[in-house]
Amino acid sequence: MGTITSINALLLFMLSTFLLFYFPYFAIGKDEAGRPLTIPGFTLATATTTITTAPLPPPPPPPPPPTCPPPSPPPRPPPPPPPPPPPRPPPQTRLIRARGVLLKFKKFEIVDKTGYTNNWKGSNPCKYNGIRCATYPNSKETAVAGIDLNQAQITGVKNGTLKLSDVLGEIPELTFFHVNSNGFGGNLPDLSVKKFKYFYELDLSNNKLSGAFPMQVLQATNLTFLDIRFNQLSGPIPPELFVQDLDVIFINNNFFSGNLPSNFGSTPARYLTFANNQFSGTIPSSIGKASKTLTEVLFLGNNLDGCLPYEIGLLGKATVFDASKNIITGPIPHSFGCLKSIQFLNLASNQLYGAVPEIVCILPGLRNNGNLSLSDNYFTQVGPECLKLIENKVLDVNNNCILGLPNQRSPEECHAFFSNVKPCSNPKFFHYIPCKTYYSQLHSQAAAAPLLQEDSSFYSSPPEPVTYKTLRPHRL
Ligand SMILES: *[C@@H]1O[C@H](CO)[C@@H](O)[C@H](O)[C@H]1NC(C)=O
Ligand SMILES: *[C@@H]1O[C@H](CO)[C@@H](O)[C@H](O)[C@H]1NC(C)=O
Ligand SMILES: *[C@@H]1O[C@H](CO)[C@@H](O)[C@H](O)[C@H]1NC(C)=O
Repeated sequence: MGTITSINALLLFMLSTFLLFYFPYFAIGKDEAGRPLTIPGFTLATATTTITTAPLPPPPPPPPPPTCPPPSPPPRPPPPPPPPPPPRPPPQTRLIRARGVLLKFKKFEIVDKTGYTNNWKGSNPCKYNGIRCATYPNSKETAVAGIDLNQAQITGVKNGTLKLSDVLGEIPELTFFHVNSNGFGGNLPDLSVKKFKYFYELDLSNNKLSGAFPMQVLQATNLTFLDIRFNQLSGPIPPELFVQDLDVIFINNNFFSGNLPSNFGSTPARYLTFANNQFSGTIPSSIGKASKTLTEVLFLGNNLDGCLPYEIGLLGKATVFDASKNIITGPIPHSFGCLKSIQFLNLASNQLYGAVPEIVCILPGLRNNGNLSLSDNYFTQVGPECLKLIENKVLDVNNNCILGLPNQRSPEECHAFFSNVKPCSNPKFFHYIPCKTYYSQLHSQAAAAPLLQEDSSFYSSPPEPVTYKTLRPHRL
């Protein structure tokens, strides 16, 4: 019995030793399905390699029997709290990506004879000439928020045009892209608000755009400023342009043609320049709907014809109205006497005729340092108020058919015109006056705005209109 008991004791000792030293290895090394376990924070490859290549360790020798109990450890101070992780720098992937786009653009696409992009190097694109950075909304990320290459005179290597899609199209964080007087051409990229959430200003003036109106701008519903003047764009302009929430539409000095869309007056824009294109047809009567916003509008230098719609007189905010150098005919509607803010009214070089309405010549903005140009038409008559403006050099009626005034057309020329005059479709509206203010003042001169006299310092001269500056190709 004693032998059996001691053998049993030996077996028991061996079994417990085996379990003590080997069981933990199996328990940690494999999961329930026998797959190697991975340890959080380590890569699968490392764990697998360790487990599959490590040979089974030989059983360690049994531990020596303890000789004395280990000394009780001294009371440990509580472990210090782990240091807070250092604040992670915000991810700058937007900036890095934009930098890549700019450097690629510089390297492969441009001829930069003025050296504008010379400092486009280094890791921080925010320091590059013409690059503006800002924090991207709802993030801590810095992004390229604007590109201003105005006047840089950069041109392209291939055919001399720079591809807009390669730079504008690749930086969706942009809020503005101002590249007046460079060599950009080709198609506009997709500018839809889905991609360009915060894109407000597009200035492609005086570049090399050609072909049809760039419809991509219609998708940029956050756009407020559209300047594509001085390019070679042609064909009609889309009606959708006039429902877009734009403040500024500068499309002068292109080759746009066709009628102005009939929904013209739906535009909320304050500044419109359609000058020096090939538009034809009449000025849409819907223009009166823009009465609360339209401030300056340039139609000059087109092929507009027909008669002036009386609704133009509804534009109470307008300070500049210029339809000179067209083939507009008919009289000036008396409603123009309601243009209570007008300072520059230019209808020169058309085929207008009749009497110049006195009600227009008493408009305060014209009398006080304004400018009323009616030269090169077929007007036949001016009254005393208009004569005063002529004396004050506010009103120019040279080269008309007004008897008794100098510098008029020959009687033969006037006769030829009036023997072939085109009537207007709605003549009864020419005497319709959709306001009372200045009409009543016409009959009580005391209330009318005084004419500018010697004490001109009393009147501040009107600020230079915004839109006339657009007639120069370089930046406003
Ligand atoms: C650019 O040049 C190529 C070859 O010279 C020509 O085929 C292509 O039509 C040109 N593109 C433009 C937009 O002028
Ligand atoms: C710009 O567009 C987005 C998406 O359509 C819109 O949520 C946001 O209000 C717009 N911002 C402005 C100023 O129109
Ligand atoms: C009025 O405007 C016309 C056309 O822009 C210009 O030629 C003329 O010099 C201006 N007159 C005055 C007095 O400013």
